Amino acid sequence: METYTRSNLKDYFLLFKKRLISTKQYARNNYVKFLKIQKDLRTEFNFELKNKKVLDIGCGQRYPYTYLLSKHNNAIGIDLDVILLRHDYRNYKAIIYKNGLNRFLKTFLRSLLFDRQYFKELSRLSEKSRKSQFIIKHMNAEDLKFKENSFDFVLSILSFEHFKNVEMCVKEVKRVLKKGGKFYITVDIYTKLHGGHEINPKRPWNHLLNKNFKPNVYLNKLRMEEYETIFSKHFKKIRFICKEDPEVKRYLTPELKDQLSNYSEIELTMYPLIIMGEK
Ligand SMILES: C[S@@+](CC[C@H](N)C(=O)[O-])C[C@H]1O[C@@H](n2cnc3c(N)ncnc32)[C@H](O)[C@@H]1O
Repeated sequence: METYTRSNLKDYFLLFKKRLISTKQYARNNYVKFLKIQKDLRTEFNFELKNKKVLDIGCGQRYPYTYLLSKHNNAIGIDLDVILLRHDYRNYKAIIYKNGLNRFLKTFLRSLLFDRQYFKELSRLSEKSRKSQFIIKHMNAEDLKFKENSFDFVLSILSFEHFKNVEMCVKEVKRVLKKGGKFYITVDIYTKLHGGHEINPKRPWNHLLNKNFKPNVYLNKLRMEEYETIFSKHFKKIRFICKEDPEVKRYLTPELKDQLSNYSEIELTMYPLIIMGEK
């Protein structure tokens, strides 16, 4: 039943503290990322995210991009977790059954305490009425329940690192895209500073240095070249953007560089990998 995370009380507390400080900031970060996605698509493909049929894969409990996309598009978000869309008994029951009690409690508390403020800020920034329509479905990225050639655009933000069979998901993206349809995917590669998804790491790159490290969420641990190989196998028009984060480079002392010599400097210091393409 517990498909996605394992948690403990310390994690809850740290998450709570983080959220208390940063709910509005988190909404702003999502909005800024969304503006960047739009800009990248314009620059790369002359593609406007307006009046399109769009799919957001791994939309998350707060579905920021499905929400933002729905202002001008027909948007559908999917996630392996059941998403808390309404506070009612049936929704709670489905979440407890599918996501597990632990995840339910985390989602429920977050929603009750922070989501009002979060969505208010997201609506304010995007000048979007909270009423505009979108659909969220419970679905596995490896097995999309949509017909082929259904979407003009597929988005997936920081979710591919959680997929068990990435190649199956890439094939599904290709299948559901219309010919000429675009996709934009970002991935937190395992080797990067926060690639272990550790809430409070003891040292930089602890997840790579500590042989006994076990992530709190499922991570496929694929490396950058493996993503490039898989995507290039299925798409011809494709672009990988991998940039170094100068803030992160500060942590890479000569001693750490030596200990992490199995990884290239860019793999350790990169921003999320961006993969954009066209069917
Ligand atoms: C880090 S969250 C990203 C959420 C959102 N895209 C965002 O940027 O805020 C990753 C999401 O991927 C979802 N996920 C993991 N495996 C999945 C799968 N096989 N199919 C669909 N969603 C999946 C998780 O449930 C989680 O909500």
